[in-house]
Amino acid sequence: MKTVFSGIQPSGTVTLGNYLGAMKHFVDMQEDNQCYFCIVDQHAITQPQDRLKLRENIRSLAALYVAVGLDPEKAVLFVQSEVPAHAQLGWMMQCVAYIGELERMTQFKDKSSGKEAVSASLLTYPPLMAADILLYGTNVVPVGEDQKQHLELTRNLAERFNKKYNDIFTVPEVQIPKEGARIMSLTDPTSKMSKSNPNPKSYISILDEPQTIRKKIKSAVTDTEGTVRYDKEQKPGVANLLTIYSAITGESIATLEERYHGKGYGDFKADVAEVVVNALEPIQEKYNELIHSDKLDSILDDGAARANTQAVRMLHKAERAMGLGRRTR
Ligand code: TYM
Repeated sequence: MKTVFSGIQPSGTVTLGNYLGAMKHFVDMQEDNQCYFCIVDQHAITQPQDRLKLRENIRSLAALYVAVGLDPEKAVLFVQSEVPAHAQLGWMMQCVAYIGELERMTQFKDKSSGKEAVSASLLTYPPLMAADILLYGTNVVPVGEDQKQHLELTRNLAERFNKKYNDIFTVPEVQIPKEGARIMSLTDPTSKMSKSNPNPKSYISILDEPQTIRKKIKSAVTDTEGTVRYDKEQKPGVANLLTIYSAITGESIATLEERYHGKGYGDFKADVAEVVVNALEPIQEKYNELIHSDKLDSILDDGAARANTQAVRMLHKAERAMGLGRRTR
């Protein structure tokens, strides 16, 4: 049995990109693996957050974890800040990381460019992410493509620590889905669909109403050629819609191209919208049942307790390896 770890920031709307790139695969992995799925609130505060909104987003993400099909009996669902070992090992991993390699992270460059006051935590974000993963002896990390570079760094930090101190960390593998690893914006299909985009037409929220989803897909940017075929360079909008369709239904892009041969974008977009609506409706129903129940608190309490037991063991190993504290724990 392998150990799987992944996390999502509670920093706003959860998008169709988060679902197709990450959450959908979490569900597939919970049967045969020991899974940990974290709500990474400490990562979220690397950027300004409204206190009450953050609380709400944490709850909402917990409800979504369950609503997409994660079973809290099987997978450990928990909030990062409720397991102190994350921040503790995060600090230690900062001592292993070099400023140069952190400055080279594209996400740091994107999020800091043009800003006057950039928080130090935006730079030291990846060592915390490495700590998240390494605390559990994680073998596999399912993520979307944008996290690939952070995972490479995690592997490097684990190897560096193992060599320098003691060989305690498992070096994790990244798992990126074949279809859906990078869902693009609906209004600018050359950039990633992102929950932080101020234009809500650019993304589909997992919680969007069916009518909203239909409208957003209908107005998604395509091109003037009028044929439904996959060409990421020339036709990024159509390619993105084909990817969404394929990632949801599991049908190959070639099958879809054949199905829409000779048909226009109108028919195609209407069908993409129905596929998305049908996939999200059961999730939304379950979400609405859960969001106001106190089940969520007991799920997260239990998750934090289970995660804590594991995490503290590895933290103590790492502390021993580095020589921290007075007593051997
Ligand atoms: P976050 O919260 O930005 O995104 C959560 C997951 O969704 C994936 N994703 C996408 N996949 C496909 N298309 C998109 N447009 C898209 N947008 C986002 C992300 O790749 C991710 O898998 N740093 C992480 C959170 C994190 C983490 C971890 C992940 C913290 N610690 C440890 C794994 C392991 C992040 O900001 O993800």
